[in-house]
Amino acid sequence: MVNYKDLGLVNTREMFKRAVAGGYAIPAFNFNTMEQMQAIVQAAVETKSPVIMQVSKGARNYANATILRYMAEGAVAYAKELGCEHPEIVLHLDHGDSFELCKDCIDMGFSSVMYDGSSLPYEENIKISRQVVEYAHKYDVTVECELGVLAGVEDEVASEVSHYTKPEEVIDFATRTGCDSLAISIGTSHGAYKFKPEQCTRDPKTGKLVPPPLAFDVLAEIEKKLPGFPIVLHGSSSVPQDEVDTINKYGGNLPDAVGIPEEQLRQASKSAVCKINIDSDSRLAMTAAVRKYLAEHPDHFDPRQYLKPARENMKKMYIHKIVDVLGSDNKLAQC
Ligand code: G3H
Ligand code: 13P
Ligand code: ZN
Repeated sequence: MVNYKDLGLVNTREMFKRAVAGGYAIPAFNFNTMEQMQAIVQAAVETKSPVIMQVSKGARNYANATILRYMAEGAVAYAKELGCEHPEIVLHLDHGDSFELCKDCIDMGFSSVMYDGSSLPYEENIKISRQVVEYAHKYDVTVECELGVLAGVEDEVASEVSHYTKPEEVIDFATRTGCDSLAISIGTSHGAYKFKPEQCTRDPKTGKLVPPPLAFDVLAEIEKKLPGFPIVLHGSSSVPQDEVDTINKYGGNLPDAVGIPEEQLRQASKSAVCKINIDSDSRLAMTAAVRKYLAEHPDHFDPRQYLKPARENMKKMYIHKIVDVLGSDNKLAQC
């Protein structure tokens, strides 16, 4: 049993309280590789932002659970080495799908876990969420639960259709589970294809898809029911079209990839939405940089040569999200 406090990590409680009160959101970036971890830490340190580093079940399968945990411990030491004396780094399990997985992460030093029972019948979701909360709170680990279903095409998280969170259920769900934050469904979805072309209009000048707006009325209803309660948005990549264009220019094939416009994420960040999940944008930034580099340097084969611009490109994207979209820069309690 390792307690996250001994690793220099923090849970989400205080940072969410400050984010809700201050009208900004904490970035939750997924990581699978060392380059992503380095870029996240560099971006958080340079902007003096709290940050959530999250690990999915797929990431554990890819990189190994123990290695990822040590990388998060290393992230704290790295942030200090970069000059941040009091970093606020959360190690979070993304989309935990069982009590056992959540327990395993808590026991190995995670400071926050998500139990995602959103695809289960309501009472079953409450039952397992409650079980996770009871175990996690013994160790002061915070718990995110989910109500409502996102559409998406991720490996570990898949649903054909989305079902918005029902505002009339949120008080009962939050009270009976005891969760610390609630992930809701208001029209975001996982992956780089968030909407089908038939759900969008097309910009006549660029030919790019223009997605439908998020259901801000549902968010407002939820906030009315649970004033000040921390709300989480998954599936919040904006799928930057310059990265998509670079990928397509250098041999990729991502036609009609579309995300959530950043203006809407900016608007959400000012509400009780205090955690915004971004994974696909990091994948796009990495892939665009690698494709471009390899196309321009066909004789290079040292991974350090193409992973360096990939890391730089991800860092640029993380800083942009922190400063220009979520507004979490300069929000560390102590620098
Ligand atoms: O919400 C899902 C995240 O983007 C993680 O995706 O399960 O492919 O690692 P993954
Ligand atoms: P994106 O696919 O929009 O980056 O969403 C990531 C996410 O929700 C991780 O839980
Ligand atoms: Zn998600």
